[in-house]
Amino acid sequence: MAILVTGGAGYIGSHTVKALQRQGRDVVVLDNLYKGHRQAVKDAPLHVGDLGDPAFIADVFGQYSVDAVVHFAALSLVGESVQRPDLYFRNNTAYAMNLLDAMVKHKVDKLVFSSTAAVYGEPHSVPIDEDHPKAPTNPYGESKLFVEHILRRYDTAFGIRSVSLRYFNAAGADPSGEIGEDHQPETHLIPIILQTLLGKREHIEIFGTDYSTPDGTCIRDYIHVNDLSDAHILALDALAAGGSTTAYNLGCGQGFSVREVIRTVEKVTGRTVPVVESPRRPGDPAVLVASSERIKRDLQWNPQYENLETLIASAWQWHQAHPDGFSQ
Ligand code: UFG
Repeated sequence: MAILVTGGAGYIGSHTVKALQRQGRDVVVLDNLYKGHRQAVKDAPLHVGDLGDPAFIADVFGQYSVDAVVHFAALSLVGESVQRPDLYFRNNTAYAMNLLDAMVKHKVDKLVFSSTAAVYGEPHSVPIDEDHPKAPTNPYGESKLFVEHILRRYDTAFGIRSVSLRYFNAAGADPSGEIGEDHQPETHLIPIILQTLLGKREHIEIFGTDYSTPDGTCIRDYIHVNDLSDAHILALDALAAGGSTTAYNLGCGQGFSVREVIRTVEKVTGRTVPVVESPRRPGDPAVLVASSERIKRDLQWNPQYENLETLIASAWQWHQAHPDGFSQ
């Protein structure tokens, strides 16, 4: 019985594939390689195709005895989603339904879904728990929230049980040095700072220094990608044990400002980061910090990388060894 991982060649997907393989589990990867990297999938069968193609999905489900699905495949750029909502609702929401329909047809009843903190929008209070109102401020967050709604209905109607995992700020790399973060284009804070230190960029721009936070810059909750991977495996096990449809936040529960992240990078690397202060990036909430108490309590999730220095050190190891990401 195999676990089907969609988007398994992407950043969080490839780390989860590796974690599943470390446990000796049978994994099949499906990815269109639009953003993912073939080299990020080491020893699992990789089927290259798109969830927009029901015949391709049917072919994969026909070849394997799929026990459960972990669904990462999606577009994930907030700014792009505002410009092209059509792409986001189609890829992230409509195509997820193609996958679900194949699951119904093949009687696969367990799904772990890659959701996001963006489902909450601008927070009313922090830390954010799972009961916080859901009011996404962009099509990316909406496209994921719609899937969460669909999942609840598919449980009632078709018996597919699911766990939606709402990630806060994923960062870091597997300590093996074999896989890490490589987005084209890169928009995330930590890789951009590290690329600056490697001479790939002239400086890091701080987007906004006038937020109502202690140092004026945005605060985020950074969570190591391997701690995210562990949570997916715990969620799969909970579903296998008969668990019901639910959603969990995944963060460390501690917020760091952009300036604090830059200072921590300087401490870890021993280098000075060239900084330029710029205007706010539209749509950025001032503070996003998770309460992940629910998954700690229900699934005994126990993050191993709560220390920001350790997290950054793992990313630095990857970026130094792979300054051009997977393309070198
Ligand atoms: N930032 C900078 N300079 C940069 C890049 C980022 O100052 O060059 C700042 C941002 O303004 C933000 C913080 O660093 O305050 C973190 O930005 P990221 O782009 O790394 O991450 P986000 O918090 O914007 O995005 C994350 C996830 C998204 C998700 C979003 C929900 O990566 O997938 O949270 O709000 F949609």
